[in-house]
Amino acid sequence: MSQLTHTPPHEPVKSEIRTSAAGLHGLPPALEVSAVSKTFTQRRNSTPVLNNVSLKVEQQQFVTILGPSGCGKSTLFHIIGGLEQPDSGTVSMNGEIVTGQRGEISYMPQQPALFPWRTIEDNVLLSQEIKGAARDGSREEARQWLGKVGLAGFERAYPHMLSGGMQQRAAFLRALLAPQELMLLDEPFSALDALTRSEMQRWLLELWEENRRSVLFITHNIEEALLLSNRIYVFSGRPGQVLHTVDVPFPRPRREEIADTPEFLALKRQLSQWMREEQAKSRV
Ligand SMILES: Nc1ncnc2c1ncn2[C@@H]1O[C@H](COP(=O)(O)OP(=O)(O)OP(=O)(O)O)[C@@H](O)[C@H]1O
Ligand SMILES: [Mg+2]
Repeated sequence: MSQLTHTPPHEPVKSEIRTSAAGLHGLPPALEVSAVSKTFTQRRNSTPVLNNVSLKVEQQQFVTILGPSGCGKSTLFHIIGGLEQPDSGTVSMNGEIVTGQRGEISYMPQQPALFPWRTIEDNVLLSQEIKGAARDGSREEARQWLGKVGLAGFERAYPHMLSGGMQQRAAFLRALLAPQELMLLDEPFSALDALTRSEMQRWLLELWEENRRSVLFITHNIEEALLLSNRIYVFSGRPGQVLHTVDVPFPRPRREEIADTPEFLALKRQLSQWMREEQAKSRV
């Protein structure tokens, strides 16, 4: 059956020893978040958002966070990307502590955040430009990718001329073409209709299986998480903490047909139940 490791609620998640925790090829994890907590304080209100969160993305692994709305997922991404400071805990990449440092990751935010004064092509090339990593072939490569995600002919368009879903695809490409090894994707497909979403999932799966970047992915979609991930962390409602860790057992390369197997359906049922429980708790 599935390899579920279950962390009961309200029990602090143990942080792991950072540099000795060798993963693939004996390398330290691409990303390790250790015991991160965060509370936002505004005037007299303080909102605890993350509670002692520890998680890991081994080199070339695809890891997903599933959790109810408002449980601190995007905040965790901001902390990993150095846009917010944690109150306590650390962020390490490749065995080095990088808490609060920017520029270490390729990041697709929940809002596509394209720059309105740059064309789609120039938006897609932005991360390479910032890192000084643009090459002679970069523009040509960007054009080819724009074609692959259905944006051919929009290279010179400006973001306001695109639909929400098209903007999301452009923002996704910008993250994909960024030179950093670790990609953080915050609900990259949420603005897409069901058909385009499933096309993009299939495309991302194939692409990832060919290129094997280290990815931390946020989604509310359980099937998407099971199809794409090596590991899924299930978060509690706010303040977010890791409730369950699921190692997804399906071999690679994966194809959508796995969604019909009894093992997939059993895992889906279990994850749905956990998500329902957390959503119900956050409503009371
Ligand atoms: N800069 C900020 N200042 C004050 N509160 C904030 C700030 N950023 C986020 N919050 C609060 O932190 C909580 C978690 O927000 P966050 O965006 O991380 O949730 P999320 O899990 O990504 O939710 P969703 O699934 O809806 O995207 C929310 O209550 C939000 O209001
Ligand atoms: Mg969010």
